[in-house]
Amino acid sequence: MRLLIFGTQPYERTTFLKHQDPDQHQLVFLDARLSQHTLPMVGEGDAVCVFVNDDLNAEVVEGLHQLGVRLILLRCAGFNQVDLKTAEQFGMTVARVPEYSPFAVAEHTLALMLSLNRRIHRAWLRTREFNFNLGGLMGFDFHAKTVGIVGYGRIGQCVARMMHGLGCRVLISDPVAQPDDQPYEWVGFKELIRASDVITLHCPLTPTTHHLINEAAFAAMKKGVMLINTSRGGLVDTRAAIKALKTEKLGYLGLDVYEEEADLFFQDLSDRVIPDDVFARLMTFPNVLITAHQAFFTQEAMDRIVLTTLDNLVQFRKGTVDPRNLVHGEHHA
Ligand code: NAI
Repeated sequence: MRLLIFGTQPYERTTFLKHQDPDQHQLVFLDARLSQHTLPMVGEGDAVCVFVNDDLNAEVVEGLHQLGVRLILLRCAGFNQVDLKTAEQFGMTVARVPEYSPFAVAEHTLALMLSLNRRIHRAWLRTREFNFNLGGLMGFDFHAKTVGIVGYGRIGQCVARMMHGLGCRVLISDPVAQPDDQPYEWVGFKELIRASDVITLHCPLTPTTHHLINEAAFAAMKKGVMLINTSRGGLVDTRAAIKALKTEKLGYLGLDVYEEEADLFFQDLSDRVIPDDVFARLMTFPNVLITAHQAFFTQEAMDRIVLTTLDNLVQFRKGTVDPRNLVHGEHHA
């Protein structure tokens, strides 16, 4: 069985080649992302491997099924890019890498928080120009601030530990996870957004969480709040965020993900005109810091992603994929 690896970046190819067993794996690296347009690249009985911005909507999944594809491997934790109900309907196996390095994403979340607060992105530009003026660079102590964590899964738990380590009051909102013995306060989402100085999102993108942070949510927040999203772009209504930035309700915005990132991220567009006016507007705010979906991007995480993906392939052939790695239709409910 060939494994078609869609949207392969050079660093992914290197890592796959490092870990592959040429006797077991027949890997085909493709630059294109998987979508309706690139479906014809798939051959009879192939398996496909995709990343966060491939588009496996119902039509694409049905097309894959018609081509005899039985296995979709996600080389990421999130699974919002696949129509899981259709995959399940056709009896296709969808396997992901549920945990590769929650530390990588949590550490990047912290990097965004601290950089925004202490304006490192602006200070760096100034000192390069030998401008040593401090005007506009004043930050705040994280110590004793209230940090709200939306989603207490693998990544949310790491972030909570870090924020507690900085001396913050930590609020958690998660409709499923149970309180543990950590010294955090469990609150509802409404209370969390009302009481937090810093809000950080670590829940998955599902139909229920789409635009979780919308105009009404911004209205309920403290003035000057910091919002960090390293989870999925669709959690935040970007137009509402821009409004909140303009009224200074939103004091800081740190994004590693963006709802329309599929046409932007993971490519060099530095010599192109960007047609996305919403994204372009975001870039004009001095208190917005955007990275291009790199929170996962550490050596340790890349190794784990590739090793688990290859293992999912091997186990699928044996009929024994680790159930923790399988994604089902009900994940999308
Ligand atoms: P996880 O599955 O371990 O935890 C997610 C938690 O969110 C669960 O405890 C769940 O109960 C909770 N949750 C679900 N709906 C919620 C809601 N409405 N409000 C509050 N909590 C809710 O997932 P993990 O590994 O912590 O990852 C979280 C998200 O981070 C992923 O879904 C993925 O989208 C994103 N991610 C981003 C990466 C990046 O590079 N920027 C890399 C890896 C993951």
